[in-house]
Amino acid sequence: MATISERIKKFRRNLNLTRTLQLIWSIAPGLTIRAAIFIVLESVLWFGTLIMLKLLIDAVAAKNTAGDNYISVMLRYISIAGVISILYSCIKSISSYITEYLGAKISLHVDERIHAHTLELDLTYYERPDYLDILKRAREAGAIHPYAVVVNLFDMIRNFFMLAAVGSVLVTIDWMLMPILALFVLPILFVRVKFSDKLYEWQRRQTPLERKSSYLSNLITGDSSAKEIRAFSLGRFLLNQFTSIRNTLISEQLQLNKRRTLVEIITMVMVTSAFYAITAYIVFGTLKGETSVGDIAVFLVIFPQTFTIMQAFAGSISRMYQSNIFVANIFELFDLGSTLFKPKTPKPVPSGENLDFSIEKMYFNYPHADEPTLVDVSLKIPAGKIVALVGLNGAGKSTMIKLLCRLYDPVEGKITMGGTDIRQFDISEYRKQVSTVFQDFVRYNVPVSDCIRYGDIEGEFREADMKEAAKNSGANEFIEKFPQGYNTMMGRVFDEGHEVSTGQWQKLAIARSFYSPSQLIIFDEATSALDAKSESDLFRTFRERIGNRSALVISHRLSTVKHADYIYVMANKGVVESGTHEELISRADGVYSKLFQTHSARPVAVSE
Ligand SMILES: Nc1ncnc2c1ncn2[C@@H]1O[C@H](COP(=O)(O)OP(=O)(O)O)[C@@H](O)[C@H]1O
Ligand SMILES: [Mg+2]
Repeated sequence: MATISERIKKFRRNLNLTRTLQLIWSIAPGLTIRAAIFIVLESVLWFGTLIMLKLLIDAVAAKNTAGDNYISVMLRYISIAGVISILYSCIKSISSYITEYLGAKISLHVDERIHAHTLELDLTYYERPDYLDILKRAREAGAIHPYAVVVNLFDMIRNFFMLAAVGSVLVTIDWMLMPILALFVLPILFVRVKFSDKLYEWQRRQTPLERKSSYLSNLITGDSSAKEIRAFSLGRFLLNQFTSIRNTLISEQLQLNKRRTLVEIITMVMVTSAFYAITAYIVFGTLKGETSVGDIAVFLVIFPQTFTIMQAFAGSISRMYQSNIFVANIFELFDLGSTLFKPKTPKPVPSGENLDFSIEKMYFNYPHADEPTLVDVSLKIPAGKIVALVGLNGAGKSTMIKLLCRLYDPVEGKITMGGTDIRQFDISEYRKQVSTVFQDFVRYNVPVSDCIRYGDIEGEFREADMKEAAKNSGANEFIEKFPQGYNTMMGRVFDEGHEVSTGQWQKLAIARSFYSPSQLIIFDEATSALDAKSESDLFRTFRERIGNRSALVISHRLSTVKHADYIYVMANKGVVESGTHEELISRADGVYSKLFQTHSARPVAVSE
């Protein structure tokens, strides 16, 4: 059990709005000021109607002493009250419009910042399920909670002004009334805060399960799994799992809500009974004394209203509190930074085409993996050379490519470009020097020309180069058959999209890497889906197709590998052999010779 002082400390910490307000201020300072002004106006006008009401009641009470004049006095009060009321309604509507506008703006920007921040984070994070939990919670919170903090903060301010207004009337009757009312709403506030904390803790606990249910939902409804789910009749099975998780989650949440509702009802009943007991006591007390009808009338109107406003005040505090703890989810994401080394003053990337790439005594562990994936790997890609990399599945080839792209940093050893450790360069400048066709490349559902120009999105679009890249990859053959040629929409996600085969998609990915102005082209099994003719055409004249650039080609096919200037063989987390094709094949008991059974008429695709 937390002690009271601990509770208060936690309450204060969770109510600390500084960071949330800084965030909101940085997004929309002008709009926030405007919204605040309108809220003050609204409160002042509301107070105005209240004053007019009191004056009117006093005028009615003083009717007998006022003489004939009272009708015109009352008419004046009524018309002023009417005008103020109309103004109040108008200002109130404008005020809600501004708040709504502010809300939309905040949600939009926070969402944008969440997306921008995830781009800053390195691939390491995607190995961590807890990061995916943080990301999910931040994205959910981004859409509603910062906005809710603002709305409730304004509500709180408005209620505070109203409370001050009615309070100033109420203290003229008895100064004790306000503290008594405050005492009444505290238990309600306490209950709500307590359940906000519980809801937050519950949500944090449940995120992995929530993510599992989203994962299942995507499998069941998503387009990339649609084929297999049907072919293997997996739908029902997955749906049952999905439903069971949803049921667990919803029933737990309902349980929590049920408890909260019950405790709230009990508290409300007690508090409201006490409130009316006090009202009765005061009314009778006042009746015994010499109080005017006007005073009693004011008391009977104002006292319950103050109670209502006080409840609304407490309500806005508790809602603001709840939203603010959920906003913490966004800051949890914002507090994560890239784990990749960042030099204070990056070295300029050398220009020119004579850049050697070299891997020196490199060790690498995937984060959270028990065993190293690469141990003492050294390899060279001299400028302008074509280097091949072969090895069984799981040997570590793709891992090495990710390190070459600087998606991870080595644990020990280094990678150099032109003799400089690549960690000394600005990361995005360095990445422009390497263009990779990944084993699991992306099928962008965009027009063909975009699909290729994504290889150099920061450079100006060069149409001739784009077509040249398509020609060099062999993609031009199918693109030119499309009625809209290079303007054709790819994929089936959007209207008039054209779906093509995996091999054709692969050719587009190859074209993308050719279009890039990089020094090094990397193919990670990039031609695995190409037909034999396309592949042999590509590699027969590979040198001309890549120009002066260097290339690192991973392939399981001998016909591809043997064109390389130099070959590395990977096994057991490192390089075990290297040499030219002739050198390697001449070692009868070497790994390379065993990988490619040269006596076979056809090249054999090696797999485990
Ligand atoms: N994201 C990852 N997290 C942890 N281990 C990984 C990850 N990706 C690959 N591995 C491990 O690293 C080893 C090498 O994988 P990879 O480099 O993809 O092999 P290859 O491309 O040679 O087939 C594999 O044994 C695999 O289990
Ligand atoms: Mg691989």
